[in-house]
Amino acid sequence: MKALIIFGSPRKNGDTASLIKTFLNNFTGEVGFVYAFPNTDNNGIAPCINCVACKKTDCVIKDDFSKILKDDYDILIVASPIYMSNLPGPMFNVISRFNYLFHSGKKLAKQKTGVLILTGGGHGAKRLQGNSNEDLAIRQAEFIFAKTNSSLTDEHVVLSLNTDVVPSKDDKIAQEKIKQIAIELSNTYKI
Ligand SMILES: Cc1cc2nc3c(=O)[nH]c(=O)nc-3n(C[C@H](O)[C@H](O)[C@H](O)COP(=O)(O)O)c2cc1C
Repeated sequence: MKALIIFGSPRKNGDTASLIKTFLNNFTGEVGFVYAFPNTDNNGIAPCINCVACKKTDCVIKDDFSKILKDDYDILIVASPIYMSNLPGPMFNVISRFNYLFHSGKKLAKQKTGVLILTGGGHGAKRLQGNSNEDLAIRQAEFIFAKTNSSLTDEHVVLSLNTDVVPSKDDKIAQEKIKQIAIELSNTYKI
């Protein structure tokens, strides 16, 4: 049983990380990480440069996006803060790289369970275009779940959207929900 986490925060000890820590403390399977932002240990994920090499051979960009294409995981977790009512720019780099599937004609066929964790501490574009703060970010994340053949249900969506007042580490509802998801998925995928 393997979970792959696409991590969209630049902060290793921030709000999103506090929910991931709770997941890790309660999950019994193997875990891999894809860090969208560069950090001291990772280069992050670069955007698609539309060179279309993938039409004929392979993606020319060598980074951890290959972990997503490896298609060896049962659970896909997208964990990210909301920036300007969207996923942060480096998460859009991740999204752009699914262009590989379009040009290569390949599919990530393995059926997966999706988990979405979103943190936010503001109101973003609440008054713009009738969207609530998290709507656009959820839609972007849904693109990732669709392209990876991961099904996402409401039971697997964890929102901690008041972090300017209550940091996610103290958000009891979100913390309990991600803990229960980790326990449930550990049982579901137990061999
Ligand atoms: C550039 C930037 C834009 C942000 N825009 C929003 C926003 O539109 N809506 C929101 O709820 N929070 C917004 N936030 C707040 C973060 O989502 C919030 O602080 C979150 O808890 C950070 O999570 P992290 O500690 O895991 O990085 C923004 C933060 C930054 C740095």
